[in-house]
Amino acid sequence: MPEKYASKTKKSKTLHERAKKVLPAGVSYGIRYFEPYPFYTAKAQGSKLYDVDGNEYVDFWLGHTALILGHSPPAVMEAVKKQLGKGTHYGTAHELEIELAEQVVKMVPNAEMVRFTNSGTEANMYAVRLSRAYTGKNKIAKFEGGWHGGYDALHTGVKHPFDIPESAGLTKGALQDTILLPFNNLEEVEKRLKNEKVASIIIEPVLGAGGGIPAEKEFLKGLREFCNENETLLIFDEVITGFRLAPGGAQQYYGVKADLTVFGKILGGGFPVGAFCGPKEIMERLDATLYPRPQYSFHGGTFTANPITMTAGLATLKLLEDGSLISQLNMLGEKIRKQLKEIFENNSLDIQVTGDSSLFNVHFTKEEVKDASAVFRADRKRLAEYHLTLIENGVFFLPTHAGALSTSHSKEDIDKLFSETEKYAKHH
Ligand SMILES: Cc1ncc(COP(=O)(O)O)c(C=O)c1O
Repeated sequence: MPEKYASKTKKSKTLHERAKKVLPAGVSYGIRYFEPYPFYTAKAQGSKLYDVDGNEYVDFWLGHTALILGHSPPAVMEAVKKQLGKGTHYGTAHELEIELAEQVVKMVPNAEMVRFTNSGTEANMYAVRLSRAYTGKNKIAKFEGGWHGGYDALHTGVKHPFDIPESAGLTKGALQDTILLPFNNLEEVEKRLKNEKVASIIIEPVLGAGGGIPAEKEFLKGLREFCNENETLLIFDEVITGFRLAPGGAQQYYGVKADLTVFGKILGGGFPVGAFCGPKEIMERLDATLYPRPQYSFHGGTFTANPITMTAGLATLKLLEDGSLISQLNMLGEKIRKQLKEIFENNSLDIQVTGDSSLFNVHFTKEEVKDASAVFRADRKRLAEYHLTLIENGVFFLPTHAGALSTSHSKEDIDKLFSETEKYAKHH
């Protein structure tokens, strides 16, 4: 048990004991648990989280990377406060959903129509279904190390070793139409798909949970060509990369177009969200007035296009639209990746720093990290130890996950990351 952490987080320990009785593992999402117990957050503002014991943390986890403007940015809060007075949930058509859809169409290449969901998981599920409806094919393909949420057909091959089921309760039937592909290896992709009829290939342009590994541009271009030749839709899961890599996400950043693009996180401006979008020709399959059963592809949900989420999302995208904030974050990301590498190398520790734009991730290994297998071969215990040491000293990352930047991070916040990393590297 890390003593410093235990002595600073006594109230969190008590809350964890209480939480364990009513929430499995004492949390609402397994990845939020870490040894010996997670701290419990009391409030958050800007770049900081504050726990129930009054400790302050510079937050590089940012609500699963969702909070590109930091916690409770004033412009978003103001807009939300105004909207709260007009109702929190309509369950009818309303203008805000049109406005946010128009904003997405304006910013995202190849997006002509949009549908909103409540999570990235749902958006991926509906995008995959739409790809099947549109192409008339059943199979889908995803990448080793790719995380698209807990939807059964995509919940495979996330963690190494890739042949062990990710969860109990996933049936063979649910996964029989899913083909697993190696990341950043076009030749092998072509081999594995040679005799297959595939509705869609879904890819995270930067593997998030899989280690912050960017797809190589040539690889994405190759996938695009392969999909064109085989009447297969290319789906970019931009739940992390959307509105972060560039105002138009990975499509703009890497210059490769997807047929369908999936969003989440940043799009909700701090509220729950997901979305999928694409050309009219494909998206119109969701319109039952044009495509009667069985051609119609269903999508829906009670809280879809919730007016609070739409308001927060719109306020957020408006701030990101001209690209200037994103450019600054990308430059800072570059600096962080470079400096973290230098700090560890100067202290004779073998590490690789991955990530792109404002995402960064450390792996304790000599080996170049180009796919998720290399991430799992790296010393993950050491990564958890590094992050726990940072947590003890007021810098928050989830133990084995990547860090992200927000516009609320100050120079002092970044300097603290460097100085605490330096201290860790010196003593280990
Ligand atoms: C790339 C990616 N896709 C999909 C998801 C699932 O989104 P959600 O957790 O909103 O269901 C995540 C969540 O972390 C993600 O990182």
